[in-house]
Amino acid sequence: MKLAGKTALITGGGSGMGRATALLFAREGASVAVTDINEASAAQTVQRIKAEGGHAFAFRADVSRGEDAEAMVAATVKNFGPPDVLFNNAGIEGEGGFLAQLSEEGFDRVIAINLRGVWLGMKHALPHMIRNGGGSIINTASIAGLVAIRGSAAYCAAKAGVIALTRVGAAEYGRYNIRVNCICPGAIDTPMVERLHASGGMNQQQTARLSVLGRVGVAQEIARTALFLASDDSSFATGAPFIIDGGWTVT
Ligand SMILES: NC(=O)c1ccc[n+]([C@@H]2O[C@H](COP(=O)([O-])OP(=O)(O)OC[C@H]3O[C@@H](n4cnc5c(N)ncnc54)[C@H](O)[C@@H]3O)[C@@H](O)[C@H]2O)c1
Repeated sequence: MKLAGKTALITGGGSGMGRATALLFAREGASVAVTDINEASAAQTVQRIKAEGGHAFAFRADVSRGEDAEAMVAATVKNFGPPDVLFNNAGIEGEGGFLAQLSEEGFDRVIAINLRGVWLGMKHALPHMIRNGGGSIINTASIAGLVAIRGSAAYCAAKAGVIALTRVGAAEYGRYNIRVNCICPGAIDTPMVERLHASGGMNQQQTARLSVLGRVGVAQEIARTALFLASDDSSFATGAPFIIDGGWTVT
C-alpha cells in the first residue's frame, strides 16, 4: 500500500475525481478527510470507504471561505493527525459565455472557489505540514490553464492561477520537504462534464474527439495520477503541472 499510515485531506470529495481519489487513497491505506460543500455527497463517499474497511470522515466546507478552510484542516488534525497529503480538488465550471458577457458575480465566484480556494487550503494546511516534517500538496488545475477555451474566461484564468500558485508554493516550501504539484486534466467523465453536455455546449462525441485517443478520460485516471503525486513514487517531482488530457493539447 502506497499511503499506509498517511492522512489525506481532499476537497470536493463528494463527486467525480475527488470521490474517485478518496476511494483510491483509502484503499492504499490513507485515512481520508472527505470535505465538500455538499455534506451529503461527502458522507456517501465516506460510507463507501468504510464499507471497504477504510478510514474516513466527512466534513462540510466551502473552500472559498477562509474559516471553512481553517476548520476542515483543524477537523483533519483532530480526527487523523496533521495532513500528509492535501488534494485541493474542489471546483466549479461557472457560467458560460464569451468574456464580455460574463457577470461580475459569476467571474468572482469562479475565482473565489477555483483559485482562492486552492490558496486557502494551502495556507491552512502548510503550517501543520511544516511542523510534521513535510507533505505533498496536489492542486487540480486544468488544461484550461494552459490553452484558451472559448466561453470559459474566468475558469481559464483561475486554472492558470492554480498553476502559478503551485509553482510559488513549491519554490517557497521545498525547504520544508513539502512538494506542491498540480494536475491538468483534459475532458474527464464526471458530473461536471455531464452538466456541460446537458447544457448543450458540446455533445459526447465532440468531447471525445478533443483527445487524440478518441475518448474522454475517467475519474480513476486522475485518481491514479493523484496517488502518484501523493506517494513517494513522485519524490523528486515538485512545482510541476501534470497534463493528463489524452493528448488534447498536443494538436
Ligand atoms: N471533469 C473535467 O473534465 C475536468 C477537467 C479539468 C479540470 N477539472 C477540475 O477537476 C476538479 C473536480 O471536478 P469534477 O469534474 O470531479 O467535478 P464535480 O462537479 O463532479 O465535483 C466537484 C466537487 O466539488 C464540490 N464543490 C463545488 N464547489 C465547492 C466549494 N465551494 N467548496 C467545496 N466543494 C465544492 C462539488 O460539490 C463537487 O462535489 C475541479 O477543480 C474541476 O475544475 C475537471
